[in-house]
Order: sequence, then structure tokens, then C-alpha cells
Amino acid sequence: MVSELDQLESEGLSLLEQAGDVDSLEQWRIEFLGSKGRLKAALGKIKEVPGDQRKAYGQRSNEVKKSLEGAFKARQAGNGAAPAGASKGPMLDVTQPGVAQPLGKAHILTRVRAELCEVFARMGFEVAQGPELEDDEHNFVKLNVPDSHPAREPIDNFYIDEPGDPSRPRMLRTQTSTVQIRVLEQAIAEGWGPPLKIIAPGRVYRPDTVDATHSFMFHQLEGLYVAERVTMVELKTTLFQFARMYFGPDAEVRLRPSFFPFTEPSAELDMKIRLRPDKPAEWIELGGSGMVDPSVLEAVGLDPEKWTGFAFGFGIERIAMGRYGIPDIRMLFENDVRFLEQL
Ligand code: DAH
Repeated sequence: MVSELDQLESEGLSLLEQAGDVDSLEQWRIEFLGSKGRLKAALGKIKEVPGDQRKAYGQRSNEVKKSLEGAFKARQAGNGAAPAGASKGPMLDVTQPGVAQPLGKAHILTRVRAELCEVFARMGFEVAQGPELEDDEHNFVKLNVPDSHPAREPIDNFYIDEPGDPSRPRMLRTQTSTVQIRVLEQAIAEGWGPPLKIIAPGRVYRPDTVDATHSFMFHQLEGLYVAERVTMVELKTTLFQFARMYFGPDAEVRLRPSFFPFTEPSAELDMKIRLRPDKPAEWIELGGSGMVDPSVLEAVGLDPEKWTGFAFGFGIERIAMGRYGIPDIRMLFENDVRFLEQL
């Protein structure tokens, strides 16, 4: 029985030497070293070997295993003697495609947020932050949204506490305008402003039904400038400047009169955007803006006779969709790699 192992070894080695190319080398590997190969079969036969020969058979089969595997590795690495007639040198298939190393990158929304902060930083805005879990005082009351306002209905908000509790009910913020109040309160308490000029990017939550343009969570970019004698001209200049810096010099933008409780006068910023190649460009609303309402300044203890300001709030998804021609907001949250790879 041991002689069968000798036979397997010498046959294996000689056939290996004859294997002239990558394919026949692979065939040899399957025949001898494969999981259904001859070596495996020979090792399995130990059960049939009579007891007195078993030790010798075991030892020899180990040697043969090492010998065949070693010879194969050497051939594979190109150290073995090349067979007569075959090309000399390593068995390297230079036509084999390389192994791609996929590189990760930041999500498109993360990059757009960073780009927006960068554009506004060049206009002197500092980045501020506020909590996503808010109270209705910052989300509504101090932003001049009265108790009776329909926007405060439980059906339109993710309240954590019972709305109408004597203590301030908490909620997931529906808008980053909360950060206007937070920053003003903090600046006044710490004595570093106003004047101040901030932007605040962040998540907001609304119980909306998800469709191509709505999501229960999305991102806004809030802007606030408070100083003395700020005029609407500065607001318009800032917003138009932003649009041209971010979308290019040909960006078509317009301000359209609107209403928000925390600004007076208020305007919406529209931009002409082509979301689908098969459709003409249309006016898309990027967000709201306006001159800070005196009652907001009063709510944080500023004298509206002295202080003035403008504010704006954009949807970051809207901007990303416009900039990169993304027709459906859900694409931004599904994280389908085939979509993300294109951006
Ligand atoms: N917070 C508003 C919204 O979510 C957007 C907005 C409008 C923000 C006007 C502002 C502003 O700062 O001045 O619809």
C-alpha cells in the first residue's frame, strides 16, 4: 500500500513538470491537490490499511502531501524548473485583470453639506450647531409661531412629550431655525455677539409621507446674520452670490415674496433647475428667507430698534438634487451602491 504513495508522488511530480501553462497547472492542482483529488483519496485510504502498516502509511502520505504541495507552490511562484519548451520565468499571466481596490468616499449629502459650509465660510459665516431633540420653545414659541398656529398640530410634528404640557414639551426639531434662537441666546449669555453671522446645517424631522420629494427626515442649512442696519439688499446679495458660487455664474435664481412667522418681509429663493434630461428646467424652491422679525429679536432680549438681521433656511437635499441632477429624494437615503458610485 505504501508503494501506491510512492507511485502517486513520482507521477504527480513528473506531470507537474509537464504542465506548461497556467491552465494545465490549474488542472494538475485540481487532479492532485483538489478536494476530490488523488492526494485526498490516498489519505482517505488509511482506513483500509492493515494495522501493522498504518503508521508507515500515515508517515509516507504526509511526506507525499508535503512534497506535492511544495512542488506546486514552487512552480506557482516561478521557482521551479520550467518544463522543456515552455517559456522560462515565473508563471505569471500578464493578461489577467488586476484586482480592483474599491475606495470609499463620503456620502453625497455629507459632501454637499461640506461644500455649502465652505461657500458660506468664504462669505464670513461660521458654522453653528443645535440639538435635534428640541423643545417647542425653540422650535416654535421664540420663533414667533403662536400656540394656535396649525404648524404646531401633533399630526405635523414628532412630539416626545404631550404637547400642551405646562413644562415645555420636547420634540424632534422640524426646522434648523431653532439654531437661530440657540446661537443668539448663547452669544448674548457669553458676551460674544451680536453682531454674528452663522450657518447651521443639520437634520430635521417631519411626519411626511415619503415620496419623490418628501422624507420624514431631511437636512436644512440655516443662515443668520444679526448686526446693526442690515438691509434686504444684503440678504439678496448673499443668496444670489451663494447661488452663483455653488451652481455656477449662469445660475438662474429669483426671490419670490412669501410668509414665515420669524421673518418680515419674507421671500422664497427659487432656482431654475433641470432634474431630468427629458424634461425642461423648472423653478424649484430651494428654501425660505427674510429679514429677522423684531419679535424674534425681542424673544432673546435684543432691542429691535438697534439690532437687525436676515435669515434663510434651505433644504440640503433639494440643493444636492439640483446640483447633481438627482430626480428622487429617496435615492439619497436608500444607499444603493450603484447610485452612490456615480456621484
Ligand atoms: N424654517 C423654514 C422652513 O423650514 C425655512 C426658513 C424660512 C428659514 C425663512 C429661515 C427663514 O431662516 O428666514 O420651512
